[in-house]
Amino acid sequence: MRRPIVIGNWKMNGDYAANRELLTGLVEQWTGVHQAEVAVCPPFVYLAQAAELLENTNIGFGSQDISKQASGAYTGEVSGPMLSDVGCRYALVGHSERREYHGETSQLVAEKFQAALDNGLIPVLCVGESLEDREAGKTFDVVGAQLLAVIEHCGLAGVAKGIIAYEPIWAIGTGKTATPEMAQDVHSYIREVMGPEGDSVRILYGGSVKPDSAEGLFGQKDIDGALVGGASLNADDFVAICRAAE
Ligand code: G3P
Repeated sequence: MRRPIVIGNWKMNGDYAANRELLTGLVEQWTGVHQAEVAVCPPFVYLAQAAELLENTNIGFGSQDISKQASGAYTGEVSGPMLSDVGCRYALVGHSERREYHGETSQLVAEKFQAALDNGLIPVLCVGESLEDREAGKTFDVVGAQLLAVIEHCGLAGVAKGIIAYEPIWAIGTGKTATPEMAQDVHSYIREVMGPEGDSVRILYGGSVKPDSAEGLFGQKDIDGALVGGASLNADDFVAICRAAE
């Protein structure tokens, strides 16, 4: 049985005051015991604030990226030991916005995935196709290649220690959510690629998840939760999505 999980990716948003209001609101609405696991991924500079405000709550937190290096002359990067030190539980790797804007290759993403594992973090591997890929019938080819690069570097057992997030690029920030059936089709393929380890790995959907689309997505057998962008910046909306995952 895979425990559902909903992770909020704040992207480059927030400030101390807004974060306090958002996190306080989340904590107030998400008390007690829940079936669903919940976490947020603030920008690096606010991880310590998240650690403080989420201490002794049932909401975890993580980073939006991680260096493949453990320490040294890598200006601007943040290492696995640092993220672990501040209390992160998760690390997103390979988000499409980092692949696009920072030229992150699948090999680099694989090395980042391993760096997260090496530091006791749960890597969340983001994969997904562009609209052009989909319209060309290449969705499985693209997603499969992104996943296989990490399997090759970390091994199936290694990948199974993480979480996979299917985020069709054409659905990110566009308001165009994939239909539950479209998402299920790719999730099922990802699980098939994972082979024997596929049954245990959690596969999240990301791409314009909102309170009104969450239930339909979570009703699909291979969708184990969501990686939420815009809606994670509103406590009520994010909690509504988390409740739909219960
Ligand atoms: O990582 C999640 C993000 O890419 C989805 O963003 O705003 O479409 O929910 P959004």
